[in-house]
Amino acid sequence: MSPIYLDNNATTPIHPDVAQAMLDCNLRGLVNPESQHQLGRESRRTLESARETIGRLLGLHLEDIHADHLFFTSGGTEANNLALQGYRLAANNKNRLIISGIEHPSVTTTATWLASQGIDVQTVNTLNSGQIDCNHLESLLNDETFLVAAMLANNETGVLQPIDKIVSLCQPRSIPVHVDAVQAIGKLSVDFQSLGATSMAVTAHKIHGPRGIGALITKHEHPPQPILHGGFQQAAIRPGTEAVALAVGFAMALELYVANQVGHQEHLLRLRKTLESGILSQLACAVVVGDDSPRLPHTSNISFRGKDRQAVLMALDVAGLCCSTGSACASGSSEPSPTLVAMGLEDEIIEGALRFSLGVFNTDEEIQAAITQICAVAEVL
Ligand SMILES: Cc1ncc(COP(=O)(O)O)c(C=O)c1O
Repeated sequence: MSPIYLDNNATTPIHPDVAQAMLDCNLRGLVNPESQHQLGRESRRTLESARETIGRLLGLHLEDIHADHLFFTSGGTEANNLALQGYRLAANNKNRLIISGIEHPSVTTTATWLASQGIDVQTVNTLNSGQIDCNHLESLLNDETFLVAAMLANNETGVLQPIDKIVSLCQPRSIPVHVDAVQAIGKLSVDFQSLGATSMAVTAHKIHGPRGIGALITKHEHPPQPILHGGFQQAAIRPGTEAVALAVGFAMALELYVANQVGHQEHLLRLRKTLESGILSQLACAVVVGDDSPRLPHTSNISFRGKDRQAVLMALDVAGLCCSTGSACASGSSEPSPTLVAMGLEDEIIEGALRFSLGVFNTDEEIQAAITQICAVAEVL
């Protein structure tokens, strides 16, 4: 029997139609979209059509000379780097970067590196609920602040963040807000214009698209400075030959996801509720982290109080169930999850916490089997 895959926040299996569309695209002999000949022009049209589809589905302003930008990148990590480093370069001597305490390593590690370069990096406290403490954020804002970076939904707990509040604090002070929406797109209706943020990072592989492509979306008047140098592609802000087939795969994955957004939400939420109630009703040691907060429909962080998360993870792996101890970029490390630490949870809860992240291809039968396996493993350990 193939393993039950409950690690969809790390990555999702590619949708067969997306894989087929990318294969067709490659076999069609598309070339460098910068080339001036007819094959180049056809590649350019295909690329721009994919860019437009993604832009439309994510609520970008696409008309007229004030159209928002969508710079394709290699994924969410690069998009976050381009925002933090690129806005630093565009900052006109402003020196303060504020990040939340629950950001993905692609934000926190970049911020740590920027701090080593002399940037005044401030980290916002997190409430027990898993949400960013907006009062603390307000106290950190000053005239020197060139960027506030906050995620739309946390990758470990699924807790949704108060971006509207954050924007309403920053906008009157003309402070740009960068939003990491990597885990949120598709699963929630994300509309860049209503979000009010200056920039937004997205990626394809969390919504059954290909790995290796994402984007940084920015307001027209707020492009970052480039952090890579080379060609003139994408206004020289993100140079490098564009990957047309990957862009086509990204656009199709988003289109497929959004076309059935409500159905997917209902399916995922039902599976998540079944999983959580099935485990909580059988295991007295189990607690759902961030339970009282609004959460993504497919993410469940469950702590098996008093158990060692690494031991539970390994036993589940042997039993044929894939889950994780936290961000895939940090897994393998025995460090406790910075997100759960930032939430101020008890050590026992942090030590025993595992992330189960569901995907649209998971079935009721798999969730029932997962409950049985998880409860059996937790009892034995
Ligand atoms: C919240 C968040 N931001 C950024 C990333 C990085 O995205 P990518 O894997 O496309 O580089 C991830 C991936 O796990 C994520 O969960």
